[in-house]
Amino acid sequence: MTSLSAQSGLAGHPHFHYQDGVLHAENVSLAALALKFGTPLYVYSRAALGQAWRSYRDAIGDRPVLVCYGMKANSNLAVLKEFARLGSGFDIVSGGELKRVLAAGGDPAKVVFSGVGKQVWEMRAALEADVKCFNVESQAELQCLSDVAQSMGRRARVSLRVNPDVDAQTHPYISTGLKENKFGIAIESALDAYRTAAALPGLEVVGVDCHIGSQLTDISPYFDALEKLLDLIQKLDAAGISIKHLDLGGGLGIRYTDEIPPSPKALLDQVFERLQARGLAHLHLVLEPGRSLVGNAGVLLTTVQYLKHAPARNFAIVDAAMNDLLRPALYDAYHGVQPVVPRDGQTDEYDIVGPVCESADWLARQRRLALQAGDVLALESAGAYAMVMASNYNTRARAAEIMVDGDQYHVVRQRETLDDLLRGESMLPD
Ligand code: LLP
Repeated sequence: MTSLSAQSGLAGHPHFHYQDGVLHAENVSLAALALKFGTPLYVYSRAALGQAWRSYRDAIGDRPVLVCYGMKANSNLAVLKEFARLGSGFDIVSGGELKRVLAAGGDPAKVVFSGVGKQVWEMRAALEADVKCFNVESQAELQCLSDVAQSMGRRARVSLRVNPDVDAQTHPYISTGLKENKFGIAIESALDAYRTAAALPGLEVVGVDCHIGSQLTDISPYFDALEKLLDLIQKLDAAGISIKHLDLGGGLGIRYTDEIPPSPKALLDQVFERLQARGLAHLHLVLEPGRSLVGNAGVLLTTVQYLKHAPARNFAIVDAAMNDLLRPALYDAYHGVQPVVPRDGQTDEYDIVGPVCESADWLARQRRLALQAGDVLALESAGAYAMVMASNYNTRARAAEIMVDGDQYHVVRQRETLDDLLRGESMLPD
């Protein structure tokens, strides 16, 4: 993708656009933010979060749907607070995420707790907070959760995460609904597992859950899964186990390059049509979207350090790296690259790479750009699975995060210092 014209917006990124030749988030110049705070720098748009939220809210209308933001996508407290304010629930996968939700003022009655490896202390904390539901992924976990709940004099509300064995047609690392995956309880064993759950004294069965994968750009795998889940719900009903809610997980994709992902409305309209057709219109629905709520609400700013014209490739060596944005290295993922201040002049095809000592340390490949050292670039679609997957590899401090709101901006996470990185370590005595 080449640079955009001086007044246009970034494709797929509402609220990021060029104004007088400078890329802005809402009304704030990204060049000014890079100058003030340095790079690498994550910048999010509050209005873009709101717009993504409304795409779900408007699609839902007055139908009984609870959106539990899949907060693993971006767990910054300011992001969580904003979604809590908008009325969102949260899908958590650890005691750490529960702590964040509570710190941000989220409502535990709208929290579902997913994950294959919940530990006893995490179960206790979630029971203490009285979360809406545990999405349980194995028979062993059912037993453990029942014991923990009983020891606290409580009953844990549970759904079983069912693995429907459908191909989500996405990257293998983010496909979760195939029988080869570690997730969920195989659909063939689900009835038995529900019988176990219903008989355990510390549990109350309330739902059926699934999550088939992430960055889905085709909607049909949801319906393959849905049919199987509805069959199961009817079998459960016949067995005297009544289900109150169906959780379809997250997974709606976003536009990274030229994808046209399905909308929440397209998904919900068809799901409710199927529920009606099967006489299951009384079911409440839970959704756990992560990426589609935050992915295109953020960019990662980085500065070109050096240009290097090697025999086979041109490299733009930048100050962000795989420790800041792991997705290209891990999934071969595409992130758009835009100059914050596009320049005229000769373009070349560049690989955008970081300073980390790994050949996998690349952020974008073969992008035609006019560049000079010192230029600031915006890596697109960096609102989801970006900062949350950052590490300190090569003893690199993690970037700061800024939330833009109209013509204001707020530092929502300070840049780590090198002292932060050494804190907690000690040397052996002499
Ligand atoms: N619910 C469950 C149980 C999940 O495992 C996930 C994501 C979600 C909801 C949210 O899915 P979303 O709506 O964001 O697709 N790091 C990868 C994505 C991993 C997704 C893991 N599970 C990436 O950068 O593409």
